[in-house]
Order: sequence, then C-alpha cells, then structure tokens
Amino acid sequence: MWRSAIEDAMQKIKNNIHNHPGLLPHITENQRYKWGENGDWIEGFYIGMMWLSYEYSGDEEFKQSAESFLENFSQRLDQHYHLDHHDLGFLYSLSATAQWMITGDEKARAVALQAARELRDRWRPAIGAIQAWGKEGDPQNGGRIIIDCLMNLPLLYWAYQQTGEKDFYDIAYRHAHKSRRFLVRGDYSSYHTFYFDQTNGNALHGGTHQGYEDGSTWTRGQAWGIYGFALSYRYTKDKAFLQTAKELAKYFLVHLPEDHVAYWDFDVPIEENTPRDSSASAIVAAGLLELLDVLEADDSDRPLLEAGLQRSMTSLVENYSTMNMPDAEGLLQHGSYHVRGNSGPDDYMIWGDYYYLEALVRIEKGLKGYW
Ligand code: GLY
Repeated sequence: MWRSAIEDAMQKIKNNIHNHPGLLPHITENQRYKWGENGDWIEGFYIGMMWLSYEYSGDEEFKQSAESFLENFSQRLDQHYHLDHHDLGFLYSLSATAQWMITGDEKARAVALQAARELRDRWRPAIGAIQAWGKEGDPQNGGRIIIDCLMNLPLLYWAYQQTGEKDFYDIAYRHAHKSRRFLVRGDYSSYHTFYFDQTNGNALHGGTHQGYEDGSTWTRGQAWGIYGFALSYRYTKDKAFLQTAKELAKYFLVHLPEDHVAYWDFDVPIEENTPRDSSASAIVAAGLLELLDVLEADDSDRPLLEAGLQRSMTSLVENYSTMNMPDAEGLLQHGSYHVRGNSGPDDYMIWGDYYYLEALVRIEKGLKGYW
C-alpha cells in the first residue's frame, strides 16, 4: 500500500511540474492550488517533495526541477521579500539545505546559511526567544512566540554544524526550552502562541491565532510541537525534549476520533461538518517516525506510538489520499489552514502533502527528509 501511495504521489508532483512551470503552490481554493510566486511561508514544501521524489526514484526530472528554483529562493533572501517572520526553516531547509545535502552544491549551502543568519537575527534577548511574526518592536507581535517555530530550529542547528558558530546552536536550544516551559501545558496539551512583555521579558499569557480559542489545543500546533521537540532532541540529545515530544504525541493520539485523523482543534465542538486537519495527522506521522527512531527499544510507550502511526497512516492513505483521483493536484484531502479566518478551511494543504510523502518514504525506504 505504501509503495502505491508513493507512486501516485510522484505522478501528481510530476503533473504539477508540467502543468505549472516555474510556479509555486499556495493555499487552495476549490480543490486547486493557487499557483504563483515565492512570497508566502509554504513554498519550500513543494521543493522538498521534489527532493523526496528524486531520492526515492532517482528520476532526474525531479532533481532538475528542484534545482531550477534555487536562484529564486536566493533572490527572495537578497530582496528580503516577505521575510519578516520565522518560517525561514520551512522555506530553506526543504529547498537550499536539501539541495546541499543531496548534491553538495556550494551555492545551495551559502543560501541556506544566509537564511539561517536571517533567522538568527530574529532572536530577542529581552524575551530569550525567537520572535515569530513581524518586525522587531511590533506592538502586537514583538514579544510573541509560536509553537510552529520549533520546526524552523533545525536550520539553526545545521548552521552551527556547518560553521561552528555557537550562537546558532544556543539560540535554537534556548528557544526550544522557552517553548517547552511556556507553550506546553501541564497535561501536555499546548498553546499555539505565548506573549511576553518585549521590554523586560515578563511572561504575559498564552493565546491562539489559528486555533478554536485561546486556551484550546490547535491540532496542527500540537503536531509542530511533537516533531519539533523530537528534532531538537536529535540535535542536542537533551532528554527533556524527547520526553516532551513523547508526551505531546500521547496526548495527540489518545484524543483522536475513530478514524485516527485529527479534527482541526481538540477542543472544538464536533458537529457533522466540523473540518478535519489531515495535515496535522501527516505531520504527527512524520514526527512519530523520528521519535520511534530515537526512543529506547524497551520504552513502555513504544506500542502506543507504533499503533498510532500505523492507524493514522493507514487512514490517511485509505480515507484521505487522492489515490483514486488521478486529476487531483493535491495528495491529501481535508486539511485545514485557518478555519476561523475562513482561509482553506477544508482542502489540500501543501505541507500536509509534504509530510505525508515524507512519512511514506521514511517507512518504505528510510529517507528522513531535510530537517
Ligand atoms: N505555520 C503556519 C501553519 O501551520 O499554519
């Protein structure tokens, strides 16, 4: 089943490359990606899918297509085009870092390091964390962290490995600890965002942007936490991150509905048309694969996590994938972007497609993605 799902995914990626040359997918409308320029937080996922497909199949067309976008990603950095945010990891780990890892291309390495320096510049000493959104001093967002940022930290850890500049590592490590302390609640549910006083670093309160309400658990935020803390463990070997990733994963799995794929928030009232977020479950599947690789063989939670992975991936392939829809542009139906904002409340999400493919090729061939 996994192999057929991968073959189907690669065919769809190829169709998209042919049908939309030089363009990148954005948020979906009516089961079609909007295709355009490189100016959002999500463009890296499409390039990452090309690299996964190339590594899985050896098909040069995927490699050539991925490489053809490097200059565009480089120019975006030079022009600082729509880059007042922390999503440099999502953008550049999956494009430039991936290219460097696979081909050893020096230009790709330089672009990835430039992106890492931009992310490092978002460190705010007063709060001891990376500012998620907006310019320094922004009245709304100047003291705000978000759980999604954990997935951008590998770009910093990687930059430390490449350059030996310790502040890349320290910033990522300290940000991960701050996130653990303030975004993760006592029962291992999570806040999407947390606010600090940007002048003196005093903790203010948790909140949400895309979740149901301030104290709820947005399922994709929980998913970013699971995979993000597992990756901080990979780079730092700090057991606190491993334990946090595991407990967040247990919370996620025991709160799933019967078909093992998450609704968009764990606290939203469930009605007939309540949207799912298949992308949250795809991220968690990829995160569980990372966790299961590093947990002790006799860890008592291993059976729960293994069963959760198997059930979620089976449901994603059987109930949510577009395997029976040859003309579909996306791979996973029923993702959600921003339900309360009525933006992509129930459609394909390019990051859902990416993590779904990453999980599939990791299960099938041990490929780990580019974090
Ligand atoms: N990182 C933005 C989102 O998950 O929607």
